[in-house]
Parts: sequence; C-alpha cells; structure tokens
Amino acid sequence: MKIIAYGVRVDEAQYLTEWAQETGNEVEQHTDYLTDETVEWAKGFDGINCLQTTPYSAKVFERMHDFGIQYLAIRNVGTDNIDLAAAKQYGVRISNVPAYSPTAIAEFSLTMALYLLRNMGQVQENLHANDYVGAGTHIGRELGKQTVGVIGAGRIGRAAIQMFQGFGAKVIAYDPFPPKEDVGITFVPLNDLLAQADVIDLHVPGIPENDHLIDAGAFDRMKQDVVILNTARGNLIDTQALMTNLRSGKVSAAGIDTYEYETEDLLSLADSGNFNDEIWDELLAMPNVVLAPHIAYYTTTAVHNMVYFSLQNLVDFIQKGSADTEVKF
Ligand code: NAD
Ligand code: COI
Repeated sequence: MKIIAYGVRVDEAQYLTEWAQETGNEVEQHTDYLTDETVEWAKGFDGINCLQTTPYSAKVFERMHDFGIQYLAIRNVGTDNIDLAAAKQYGVRISNVPAYSPTAIAEFSLTMALYLLRNMGQVQENLHANDYVGAGTHIGRELGKQTVGVIGAGRIGRAAIQMFQGFGAKVIAYDPFPPKEDVGITFVPLNDLLAQADVIDLHVPGIPENDHLIDAGAFDRMKQDVVILNTARGNLIDTQALMTNLRSGKVSAAGIDTYEYETEDLLSLADSGNFNDEIWDELLAMPNVVLAPHIAYYTTTAVHNMVYFSLQNLVDFIQKGSADTEVKF
C-alpha cells in the first residue's frame, strides 16, 4: 500500500518510518501541509495521511477525486478546518484519531490551572526583575478549594474532571448531551456554571454552533476573579471580550493554548519570521496569562498514537472499506 503523509514533523517522522517497516507499507513523508498545490504530489498513492490546523480546501478533495484517492486519514481530533461538504461531494472519506491521548490535553489544562492559581507568572516576572520581595507577595488560591466548571464532558473533559476531582475541587459540568449513565459528574445549565465557577475549563469542539460560546454576555455572568482555560479551539472565546475582562480585572487569569487568531504564521513562527498580532503581544505581556502555541496534545504518547492509529485507519479503509473512527458527516 502506498501512503503519502503531509505535515510531518521531526518528532513524528520516526514513528511513520517504524510503522512502515513493521507493516511493510510504503509511506512517503513530507513536511509541507496538504494544500491546493501540494495535493499534486499525491497522484499514484492509495491514501493520504495529514496533520494540520490550516484549511483543507474543496480543491484538495477535487484533485483527490481526479487521482482516484478515496481516503484521508488525519492524525488529530478536530475536523473544523476541513471542508466536509466538499469531501462528501468528491466522495472522499475521512477518519480522525478521536482518542490518541485525552489525558495529554486534560493534564495541560490542569497544569495551566495550577500555574495561574499560584500566580506563577507574576512570581517569575518579579524574579526576572530581581524583585525577590515582590515575588513573595502573590498569595495563591488552592485548586482543591475552587469550584471548577468544565464545559464539554466528552473524552478530554471527563479526563479533566477526574483530575480536578483528584485535587479535591468541586467540579460542575455543562454538556448538552450528558452521558445517560451516572458517571459521578454534577451537570448544571450553562448559565449556572458560568455564575458558580472559579475556574472555567473548555473542552468542546470548535464547530460553528460553538463560535464565541464565551462572549461578552457570558463574561458578564461569571464571578469576579474567574480563571478561564481554553485548550479546545480558539473560536470558542470572543477574544475582544476576554481582553475587556482581563483589562478590567474581572478575569483574574487566562490559559490559552488555542488562540482565536491562530494562523500558520503563529504555528510556524520560525519559518514565517513573525506573527504580527497586537492582541497576542498584549496577552504575552500579561503575567496573569499563560499562552501556548496549540501544544496541549504534545506528548510522546500522543504523537506515537496519532501516527499509528491514523495509519491503521488508512489500512482499514483500503482493505476492509471501513475504519473504526471514520468521521460521519
Ligand atoms: P468529544 O467529542 O469526546 O467531546 C466533546 C464534548 O463536547 C461532547 O460531549 C459534546 O456533547 C460537548 N459539547 C459540544 N458542544 C457543546 C457546548 N456548546 N457546550 C457544552 N458541551 C458541548 O471531544 P474531545 O475528544 O473531548 O475533544 C474536545 C476538543 O478538544 C476537540 O474537538 C478539539 O477541538 C480539542 N482538542 C484540542 C487539542 C489541543 O492540542 N489543544 C487536542 C485535541 C483536541
Ligand atoms: C487536535 O487533535 O484536534 C488538536 O487540536 C491537536 C492537533 C491539531 C495537533
């Protein structure tokens, strides 16, 4: 079987090579993303394997159809950057890896929560300015004494809930489709969660219906000094409203791994040279904000599983005509 893989990073390459050796399949690796131009390289291959947060356009699917390639196996969870209507139109079937390591992302939220509740950014800022006295003045809050509101109780949300509960926090959750069985989670309406939570942690998909789920009105309903965490998708938070509430001090801290105006320039800053975004720069300068370039998933366990599970999906598609984690649309 001949597979072409796009967007391959250095840390992934070894796993793609290992998988190819173990299974006897051919995998041609490219660091470039799958675009209207690079799709031309796929001619003659049986399937495509990808990882990117930049768009998969209609043109990509049109060319796949021209080349007789029916399958695209992405190495990640989110499908919000894929033109699914075009994929359907051109008969391309897609699989994702919905659970390569939910705990990787949940642990990242937990890490940011602890860092922010203990004011570590302010402490570091003072220390870097040789202000040892100032560094000792930032009294923290204990996670175990907080009410944590988790929005989205799917795979990652549930992993996060278990972790927060493990620290003794009172955890409440909102999900329009809560599990039918009792999973030991207190579900509340969204407005109640917003009003009660000291820490709000987002784990919902970035589908258009969730665009600006956390808007100015949602911030108005929150408690003073709330901490907000987003490792899910940038479009979930109205960043302008977040800025207003950070500047006023209503939001005491924020942890943002998925930034609303995230672009290829931010994600490949070394290549692009700059990421001209005034809001990003303002956030970077705030000691009570922790930013990350969409790396909550980034662990050795996750990267291994993303590669192995996605390539197995392609084999299943091509040999059996179905893959366990086909994206239904
Ligand atoms: P999942 O499908 O298992 O769970 C999502 C849950 O959100 C579902 O239970 C769904 O009912 C719920 N939901 C949908 N809309 C909602 C809303 N408006 N309010 C409350 N709940 C809502 O997905 P998952 O595996 O837990 O992943 C969640 C998201 O995390 C992914 O869609 C992806 O965007 C993001 N993610 C980020 C990273 C990263 O590195 N930062 C990595 C993987 C996934
Ligand atoms: C996902 O798996 O959906 C992610 O957000 C991480 C990925 C884009 C590397």
